Amino acid sequence: MARITASVYTSHVPAIGAALDLGKTQEPYWQKVFSGYEYSKQWLRENKPDVIFLVYNDHATAFSLDLIPTFAIGTAAQYQPADEGWGPRPVPTVMGHPDLAAHIAQSVIQDDFDLTIVNKMDVDHGLTVPLSLMCGQQDKDSGAWPCPVIPFAVNVVQYPVPSGRRCFNLGRAIRKAVESYDEPLNVQIWGTGGMSHQLQGPRAGLINAEWDKRFLDRLIAEPEALAQVPHIDYVREAGSEGIELVMWLIARGAMSDHAPAVKHRFYHVPASNTAVGHLILENT
Ligand code: DHB
Ligand code: FE
Repeated sequence: MARITASVYTSHVPAIGAALDLGKTQEPYWQKVFSGYEYSKQWLRENKPDVIFLVYNDHATAFSLDLIPTFAIGTAAQYQPADEGWGPRPVPTVMGHPDLAAHIAQSVIQDDFDLTIVNKMDVDHGLTVPLSLMCGQQDKDSGAWPCPVIPFAVNVVQYPVPSGRRCFNLGRAIRKAVESYDEPLNVQIWGTGGMSHQLQGPRAGLINAEWDKRFLDRLIAEPEALAQVPHIDYVREAGSEGIELVMWLIARGAMSDHAPAVKHRFYHVPASNTAVGHLILENT
């Protein structure tokens, strides 16, 4: 049977992708951000999964106000990096895992979560920046990501957004789905986005380090209680884009009920407009 061995949590700031693509990683500003991922790249090399289930949000790239799925699972064989206005990032095509994705869709939908099935979509910085941070820069043509990826897009852009509780319970359903897949695959689940940031309006630039650090503590130690926090608290405390953090609860809900091993924790302000948070948890 397949199993979820570990979860990774990270911010997905688009400027991080630009810093990588434009060779700016050694600049003092960026060096501090990337220093938090040195251990992570080594860890991923040593703990290479067969599949990454990557929870992220689309930023009006693949979807628009024409069509807003709350939860969308990618069942395609491959996904192209999107053109977000400056041309597509020069990173490899993301290979999917249609068979496991279809199995998870079947199991999770039968478990009463309504997923949208997506057979064709481009993937934006929400997905490609976490891959770059964890895998290092890969050449578009000669490089490759280390394994297939199942993109799982969550609407946190257009209200109404899903609650933390629903996200946590969805994670549990994803765990059950993976554990009923009849092949011994090592699956990691990644939750991305956050931490505190607000990109527009009078509060643009908002960062709340205290709230972020408490979120990291609670995500590790008491995720089910953390999942009860209503969405309005994220917006008030962590800014309008801080709501991206509910996606971390999907990954956390997919972990075993035992306390996880904390392999890595990193927090840094700022990267662009955002507080960067990063965790690696292993199932014990
Ligand atoms: C920034 C952060 C995001 O999560 C995003 O989607 C876009 C921009 C930023 O910090 O600039
Ligand atoms: Fe974002």
